[in-house]
Amino acid sequence: MRAQQDTAGGLRHLITLDGLDREALTGILDRAESYRRLPGQPAYEGRELAGTTVANLFFEPSTRTRASFDLASRRLGAHVLNLDVNSSSRAKGETMLDTIYTLEAMNTDVFVIRDSEPGMPEFLIDHVAPHVSVISAGEAHVSHPTQGLLDALTIRIHKRRFAGLKVAIVGDIKHSRVARSTVRALQTLGTTDLRIVGPESLLPGEHEFQGAQRFTRLEDGIAGADVVMMLRIQKERMAQSASLDDAAYFREFGLDLRRLRLASPEALVMHPGPMNRGVEISSEVADGPRSVIREQVNNGVAVRMAVLAAIAATLTRHRRPL
Ligand code: CP
Repeated sequence: MRAQQDTAGGLRHLITLDGLDREALTGILDRAESYRRLPGQPAYEGRELAGTTVANLFFEPSTRTRASFDLASRRLGAHVLNLDVNSSSRAKGETMLDTIYTLEAMNTDVFVIRDSEPGMPEFLIDHVAPHVSVISAGEAHVSHPTQGLLDALTIRIHKRRFAGLKVAIVGDIKHSRVARSTVRALQTLGTTDLRIVGPESLLPGEHEFQGAQRFTRLEDGIAGADVVMMLRIQKERMAQSASLDDAAYFREFGLDLRRLRLASPEALVMHPGPMNRGVEISSEVADGPRSVIREQVNNGVAVRMAVLAAIAATLTRHRRPL
């Protein structure tokens, strides 16, 4: 795989948080904090992406990630192409690589890609032109790097530290790219008490999530936690035969107010969205005072601005001369 950073340490691509050190992640979070604006404040408007064209290619559904990459790109002055993949020539059998080459020929500089096929972003960074960047907006169950960063930013804003925190991630860990990227981000930034919590059938193999403790009882996993992150059951990644009873799941693994009392009184409740209310989380908790779920969405725009700005700064060193 081509490196995600160039020889000067500049970000060229972002398809995984693996291999990015604490300094690299902290640099992105610092930049994101400078772009962050609360709802009701005027959004940051800049020219960091002036002259840059960003194409959003989402081959899986998305609300938060797609909208925030679009807004982030425009707020930094980019031209943005949101390819409607269902009416694109992909539907006529054109390969992903031919689609990329076609848009590259139209001077696209940055591809933001969500796809259900593991390995697709890595394949693309090995094939795009030297002046083109690829950002993963979610790769199968493997990786969702900007989600990991926005989760880390949300925790940093509230707790101002990563070391010494107890972080529990609850639900369908096995199919979750969010859990993989968020755990990677937090481990790199210094969190050591990480817990993955879920039914045995939804926990990954022992070779994954090394350094995290495993729990199959919600009550044990969230006891004393400073952060409780709930995940959606990803039925779209399960065999049709793997039927799950939503009500039974909520009884064992749903976060309600009674169970939330087991966590630290100052615990943050997080969820990457989309939520299934009444399945993994009750509305009282999702909309309650401990919830930072909508702050995660707000921070997602800032993080994507920071990633795009860092990549654009690197790209200027790799562009063809006129
Ligand atoms: N968290 C997340 O990736 O949400 P979307 O699927 O709506 O983009």
